[in-house]
Amino acid sequence: MVRVSLLASLLAAVAVGSATEHVRRPSGKPRSNIVPGAYIIEFEDGQNKDSFRLQSEPDYDVVLDLSSELFQGASIQLHDVKNAEEAAARLASLPAVKRISPVGIIGLPEPVEEEEENATATSATRKSHRKRQSKPLERARSTHVMTQVDKVHAEGFTGAGIKIAIVDSGIEYTHPALGGCFGEGCLVTHGWDFVGNSYGGIYDEPVPGPDPIDCNGHGTHVAGIIAAQENELGILGAAPGVTLSAYRVFGCEGNTRSDIVMAAFTRAYEEGADIITASLGSSSGWPSEMTSLLVSRIVERGVPCTVAAGNTGGTGMWDVSSPAVGNGVTAVGSFQNTAVARTFPLGSVTMDGNSTRTTFIFRDGYPSGQGASYPVWVTGFDTDNTGDGCSALPDDTPDLSGYWVLLRYASDCDVQAQADNIAAKGAERLIIYNDRPGLRWLAAYTTSPIQAVVSIEEQEGVAWVQALEAGLSIHVDISYDAQSLYLDADYEIGGAASRFSSIGPSFEMDLVPRFGAPGGNIMSTWIGDESFRSLSGTSMATPLVAASIALIFEARGRLSPAELNDLLSSNANPQVHVYEQRFAPPTWYDWFSSVALQGAGLIQVHDAIHASTLLSPSGLSFNDTTNFAGTLNFTLSNTDNADVVYDISHAPARSIYSFTREGWAAGYPYNYSEPHAELAFSESKVKISPGGSATILVTATPPHDLDESRFPVWSGYIAINGSDGSSLSLPYQGLLGSLYDAEQILEGSLYIGDSTNYAPVSPNATFTLPPRGTPPRDVNTRETAVPILMSVFNWGTPQFIADVVPVGNCAPNSTLTSFGYRSIGQLNGFPSNWQPKGEWSWPWLGQLNNGEYAPPGRYKIVTRMLRITGDPDKDEDWVVTETGPFGIRYSS
Ligand SMILES: *[C@@H]1O[C@H](CO)[C@@H](O)[C@H](O)[C@H]1NC(C)=O
Ligand SMILES: *[C@@H]1O[C@H](CO)[C@@H](O)[C@H](O)[C@H]1NC(C)=O
Ligand SMILES: *[C@@H]1O[C@H](CO)[C@@H](O)[C@H](O)[C@H]1NC(C)=O
Ligand SMILES: *[C@@H]1O[C@H](CO)[C@@H](O)[C@H](O)[C@H]1NC(C)=O
Ligand SMILES: *[C@@H]1O[C@H](CO)[C@@H](O)[C@H](O)[C@H]1NC(C)=O
Ligand SMILES: *[C@@H]1O[C@H](CO)[C@@H](O)[C@H](O)[C@H]1NC(C)=O
Ligand SMILES: *[C@@H]1O[C@H](CO)[C@@H](O)[C@H](O)[C@H]1NC(C)=O
Ligand SMILES: *[C@@H]1O[C@H](CO)[C@@H](O)[C@H](O)[C@H]1NC(C)=O
Repeated sequence: MVRVSLLASLLAAVAVGSATEHVRRPSGKPRSNIVPGAYIIEFEDGQNKDSFRLQSEPDYDVVLDLSSELFQGASIQLHDVKNAEEAAARLASLPAVKRISPVGIIGLPEPVEEEEENATATSATRKSHRKRQSKPLERARSTHVMTQVDKVHAEGFTGAGIKIAIVDSGIEYTHPALGGCFGEGCLVTHGWDFVGNSYGGIYDEPVPGPDPIDCNGHGTHVAGIIAAQENELGILGAAPGVTLSAYRVFGCEGNTRSDIVMAAFTRAYEEGADIITASLGSSSGWPSEMTSLLVSRIVERGVPCTVAAGNTGGTGMWDVSSPAVGNGVTAVGSFQNTAVARTFPLGSVTMDGNSTRTTFIFRDGYPSGQGASYPVWVTGFDTDNTGDGCSALPDDTPDLSGYWVLLRYASDCDVQAQADNIAAKGAERLIIYNDRPGLRWLAAYTTSPIQAVVSIEEQEGVAWVQALEAGLSIHVDISYDAQSLYLDADYEIGGAASRFSSIGPSFEMDLVPRFGAPGGNIMSTWIGDESFRSLSGTSMATPLVAASIALIFEARGRLSPAELNDLLSSNANPQVHVYEQRFAPPTWYDWFSSVALQGAGLIQVHDAIHASTLLSPSGLSFNDTTNFAGTLNFTLSNTDNADVVYDISHAPARSIYSFTREGWAAGYPYNYSEPHAELAFSESKVKISPGGSATILVTATPPHDLDESRFPVWSGYIAINGSDGSSLSLPYQGLLGSLYDAEQILEGSLYIGDSTNYAPVSPNATFTLPPRGTPPRDVNTRETAVPILMSVFNWGTPQFIADVVPVGNCAPNSTLTSFGYRSIGQLNGFPSNWQPKGEWSWPWLGQLNNGEYAPPGRYKIVTRMLRITGDPDKDEDWVVTETGPFGIRYSS
């Protein structure tokens, strides 16, 4: 039973998906991290795809030539997918080949559904007295206020002259707020479509073309966050003066391949982008994966790349996605917006002939005769009635079919009962006004004959009732062609690190994410008729950082990616921890959230632009217990023209456990513990003259009173206050425990199950598999029972091997491994490199990774996982685990 809750919590982590081999349970949603038979090859220097001839090697097509100054290589598709692993091994051994790696699958981090408040929750989680503020534009631009972008705009900076490339689903450049055109002189000046509209993932043929228009919406949303031009809603991009280029790697829906993402980054780089931003990724934690490597090389050549950290923060640490996790890449986390913005239909209300526009907070369904005006009818004039419409309406009630019926939100009954009671009198349209200040969401109640339900605010409803009581007539007409922006400026978790934002560190103990920007509840441009939409995710935080870099470039001149990371980090504001409960007000604490979640904190762009004290590096990682770096250092440089005296102090965050007491990967809200490291500085006060610099040594003593078996990450900030009023901070982190010793698999979670129910099989079970040669995609393993290798990875592993080992029966062609067992080969699709953490499962149709089929018989699966930081050449660095036995035969 306990297991189930773990699986359910991990299920929410699904970020990308779609392929044959692996399925993530329990949804059975197909999931894999590689494209069958497809490889990215990097050639040795001086080699290229033309010098690369594979006599007597398997047939392949070059899918994409990835050669550039960054990378000599190509992606290929082997014709014989069945024998791909073997062929790949032969290719890897060719002298021309430096490195080969399977093509990975990359998704848009799934947009996060912000908790859609229900009626009760709404009143509880919002302050009861929301007042419309006098400056609506300021509220529409709350993300700019949070990051000081508004102050930078006030100084006249807009990112003018800076070119930002967006690798995403394209841009709907026809949107009036995105320039309305494509080409020189437009906001979106150039780009390329690598895939075409109908591309949905790895089984589709990409249809490239010159027009990167967006039919998905995601890229358009990202583009608006960077550069939306003035519009009727008051939404403004953070760098409206930049020009954009669009490199489209997603079709209208679905995911994409890592080689396509590499090609897009390469082209963006070659076409002269000043900044490249990508709100995409795949579950990883490993900086050495090929896409991460390529993006790291672009960064090394001076072009900053901002990439979304991922949206898996609710379900565990150590899970920043690739390529965000790459060395030097700016991995961006998310914070909650201080205002909740939504768009709602506008309607008109006519009181005795005077028409005004009003916002309908919630709407479900469309009234027939759209645009037609109907009078408002009420049950009475009591605006304190807690049971308005809760019982059958009196016999003398008129036929309500020609009205909008206005009822007060009733605490005595639910909206469904109210709808049923008015429906009994023929009503087709219902307006609910709130019984308290604030927003009121309703569930859908459009059961026949009710066609439409909307809600309005309390003050508005009360005014209408009073007007009706005074004998005025009211007509309501909802039109759906206009949107109004509705803002709730008292969002109670505004400023907190988003609970969905993926949490680090990387498996190499790098600090990821580096810092963050508002990504929770972000209103921006959207495709089609719905011109604007609110979305949440690190996808929304990332473009704001890219735009901020454009502002810094314009104001301070070009800086290297490392200098930018230093500047944004040292000027960011670490945020205190907030515990967000579902149906109760959140709790704010007076201690900082972990560096593993928020990095350096929320970026402050005005401070970064005007900082005269430079701090380097952008963070300190003391590594794990085994590789503990006792003393690290940072350098302060005073670029001002006066002496500055700096006070150096320690502001610890609480430590955060990677695992629960029971040994499961921890999830939200995590367990924060008070013990923290002690830091000693070589100097706690330092005077630096103009143009001078000083290096301060930092010696850490890790905390004692923590349970090392649960891998607590300790972290915090070094605060540097200057006599000139400057105030900088430097994040640090360390791990109690040894990554080498980390048990990658949750104890007992690796077993052979039945693919129809995932239950472990009994030792005498025998599966009857589809005939040999049946393509995996033709077999629905939720309906046809086949053996499925199940495992819950608490940690990733650089390499995961799964050998098929005969049990009892004679095993022709088996070989003795160096680990002392006989194997007839690995499961098809293995080894799995840079295996991320999480739940993974691999259904098996009997095929081995050399393309042969295992003979009917009894087997077990023996797996080997390389330890984190382990050396693949040392047997002792591998963890060997075996499943119970099971039998297979084939139907014919
Ligand atoms: C309608 O408008 C007129 C003129 O502005 C105003 O005097 C009157 O009070 C308004 N009536 C209502 C019901 O708002
Ligand atoms: C931590 O130590 C491991 C093992 O030596 C090393 O590979 C890794 O780069 C180190 N991480 C950092 C951030 O120094
Ligand atoms: C709505 O909120 C109430 C109050 O906390 C909760 O008990 C209920 O489960 C929620 N309903 C839905 C549909 O989420
Ligand atoms: C400071 O740290 C860097 C990077 O780890 C190192 O190369 C350098 O030697 C250190 N400087 C001092 C003075 O310890
Ligand atoms: C968190 O840890 C503290 C002690 O470190 C313990 O008292 C508490 O019960 C833990 N909470 C959870 C949810 O594990
Ligand atoms: C440094 O400045 C910050 C912000 O002004 C302040 O909160 C903190 O107390 C200061 N620390 C010291 C040691 O002066
Ligand atoms: C398999 O073993 C279980 C008990 O372990 C037994 O109940 C079942 O009858 C056996 N099935 C076969 C086909 O032998
Ligand atoms: C053993 O290997 C040979 C040569 O590769 C192959 O022809 C034969 O089918 C294999 N036997 C089995 C039972 O797999």
